[in-house]
Amino acid sequence: MATYFVLLGPPGAGKGTQAKLAAERLGLAHVSSGDLFRENLSAKTELGMLAKGFMDRGELVPDDVTIAMVRDRLQRPDCKNGALLDGFPRTPAQAEALEAMLSEFGGNVSVAPYINVPMDVLIERLSGRWSCRAAGHVYHEKYNPPKVAGKCDMDGSELYQRDDDKAETVRRRIEVYLNQTAPLLVHYRQKGALVEIDGTLPIDDVSRELMQHLGAAQS
Ligand code: AP5
Repeated sequence: MATYFVLLGPPGAGKGTQAKLAAERLGLAHVSSGDLFRENLSAKTELGMLAKGFMDRGELVPDDVTIAMVRDRLQRPDCKNGALLDGFPRTPAQAEALEAMLSEFGGNVSVAPYINVPMDVLIERLSGRWSCRAAGHVYHEKYNPPKVAGKCDMDGSELYQRDDDKAETVRRRIEVYLNQTAPLLVHYRQKGALVEIDGTLPIDDVSRELMQHLGAAQS
């Protein structure tokens, strides 16, 4: 049976940072809805153009579009053993759609780690974030700087700051998270899948704790 994990947490909690490390260690596909939208945006696809307006305003892209995109991604061969989902689901309707999809594919969400970071830390994290153009590897100018300024340690590609990391857009993204996504914590707690991780710890400590939960569920 395929294994699926759902990484939860507010914008800037460290979901992308941790998902990249954990997916590699577990040999699972990393499926990030935000990365999928950004890939479509740089390829100037119709989906990317549609998503842009919502992303620039810090709003969620409509459920039907997002669900169809993730469904398509989860059907690719690298997801045959499951996936580590990052940024999806983000609404109760997306969570329901995911459950229907996974029962069709033969799997379920075994653990939903929630990376808990207080709201006041998030703005500083996002304003200092730099991401790589080639693969979305994530850095922070103070907490996780690259070895050479402006260049990705992993693939040497250029680092850039995301358009939606402007303070005003970040505030809206946090509001949207509290209104539309935070209710999923109750949903996954009721299912017995939620585990809470202290996301204020250094990156390596968060990784260690996360891997304990994911590794135990996978073995
Ligand atoms: P998305 O790309 O998913 O953004 P997000 O959820 O807002 O999350 P972020 O990527 O901003 O943060 P993160 O938790 O991954 O943190 P990171 O590891 O980078 O979504 C963007 C937009 O796409 C949405 O606003 C929406 O429009 C659309 N969208 C996406 N999914 C959707 C969906 N399902 N439905 C509808 N619309 C959707 O870390 C942040 C910074 O902190 C980095 O600089 C990092 O180096 C640093 N850091 C990480 N961990 C630590 C630590 N422990 N200590 C110190 N610094 C740390």
